[in-house]
Amino acid sequence: MEHQQKILILDFGSQYTQLIARRIRESKVYSEIHSSNYPISKIKESLPSGIILSGGPMSVYDEDSPNISKDIFELGVPVLGICYGMHLIATHFQGKVEHAKYREYGKVDLEIIKHDLLFDGVKNNSIVWMSHGDLITKLPVGFFATTTTENTPVCSLSNPEKNIYGLQFHPEVAHTENGTRLINNFLFSICKCKPDWTSENFIHSSIREIKAKIGNKRAVCALSGGVDSSVAAVLISKAIGNNLICIHVDTGLMRKNESEKIAKMFEENYNLNVISINTSQLFLERLKNVFDPEVKRKIIGKTFIEVFEKEAGKYKDAEFLIQGTLYPDVIESVTVKGASSTIKTHHNVGGLPEKMNLTLIEPFRELFKDEVREIGYQLGLPEIFIKRHPFPGPGLAVRVLGEVTEERLEILREADEIFIEELHFANIYDNIWQAFAVLLPVQTVGVMGDARTYENVLALRAVTSTDGMTADWYRFENSFLGKVSNRIIRNVRGVNRVVYDISSKPPSTIEWE
Ligand code: XMP
Repeated sequence: MEHQQKILILDFGSQYTQLIARRIRESKVYSEIHSSNYPISKIKESLPSGIILSGGPMSVYDEDSPNISKDIFELGVPVLGICYGMHLIATHFQGKVEHAKYREYGKVDLEIIKHDLLFDGVKNNSIVWMSHGDLITKLPVGFFATTTTENTPVCSLSNPEKNIYGLQFHPEVAHTENGTRLINNFLFSICKCKPDWTSENFIHSSIREIKAKIGNKRAVCALSGGVDSSVAAVLISKAIGNNLICIHVDTGLMRKNESEKIAKMFEENYNLNVISINTSQLFLERLKNVFDPEVKRKIIGKTFIEVFEKEAGKYKDAEFLIQGTLYPDVIESVTVKGASSTIKTHHNVGGLPEKMNLTLIEPFRELFKDEVREIGYQLGLPEIFIKRHPFPGPGLAVRVLGEVTEERLEILREADEIFIEELHFANIYDNIWQAFAVLLPVQTVGVMGDARTYENVLALRAVTSTDGMTADWYRFENSFLGKVSNRIIRNVRGVNRVVYDISSKPPSTIEWE
């Protein structure tokens, strides 16, 4: 097979490492993140066109600070060190890094003192983004400084002969004015990459690879209706047609008419082989008298796997399981992360392949969410579907607080539909990461006509976020909230009060349970 040009990013723990990968991919060059201790033998094997050493929170002179093998600089492959990465380059070539007396954080004015390939076409006195307390106090041997700032004498360095470059600031951050230019100079002038990492090429090569791997055998996938599993199913079906069996488990915990819509859309428009199984009774049965959110999540996760396994088991000749795993999940496992406590047990179909003896195929293991969306567009999935807000695996069960009953699910579905519909009417759906209604286990007194009511409180939640890890509540116009509240109280039986959640994450979470 043709060799895929790539840039390897070695991660020293910077909060911006993923951003570097994304910027490179936006320039249509494939990039991969590996932890800083990725063996040199593997680096050689993967024949990268260039290597980037990321930033990191430590100082190179700290005890136990991560390092790299000097052999990296002898591969004949261009290297760019960013911040901590540049400090490593400096120490490997007998330069000196010290704690800065005057730290520079945030936006800083950059003066170019010598142009090289990296700074080709970059304007003088542009703004760059700094974020570290160390600086180079003695130039490494064989290098010259290319830029400087008020408090950082060596803000970038260059050794064109060895093709090694360093930047003290972050070109990947949007605040750095010429960041894209710098990255493109590295990719195209220094590493001689071609901009051919496009969604069309990805689709073609994936289809080829999947055909070669699966051949005439069968594969199963869980089609939840979420973007990742849906795009994966459509892509795989292009390669193996009806040999892909998509199992949609209707847990009864989906939004209004959602399961029917999913099965219909994929069968009719994409010719997928969808087996839809309605198991709402089973889920409701098991959730009876369950009030604790974690117990709910565990019951749902376990029941889902049980139902899926049983159904998939009917296809004795199926040898593969398709999953829409994304790159950030894969990277999490390579970066060294502190053990974080379990806040919520997230339910995904993970854990299935070990039990089921199926070979796992994850076509999006190397992609970010927006790249999967782009592939979805290319494959002809409708925009309204691709831009849908995330929906949690346990569905409405974590939005009906307390015991989940059909009656309470029904109230929530009706209210949620009105809320989402109004977001579309107001043209603000796409400005919001996630919006939904939550049915509270609280009843309040109201008055309708001349009669007293004693009914449920419903909360509205809408947040902005980039990855779901942190979130802020969305500032609606008061008139919008008034309109939604009125429509819900008038039309949804069982709700006589609507409140709006104004908590950010942290300390709150996005879902209420
Ligand atoms: P929290 O509530 O933890 O949610 O702030 C962060 C994001 O994750 C979604 N979420 C889930 N997604 N399975 C999923 O696939 C789950 O069990 C689950 N629980 C929460 C939530 O909707 C938000 O986007």
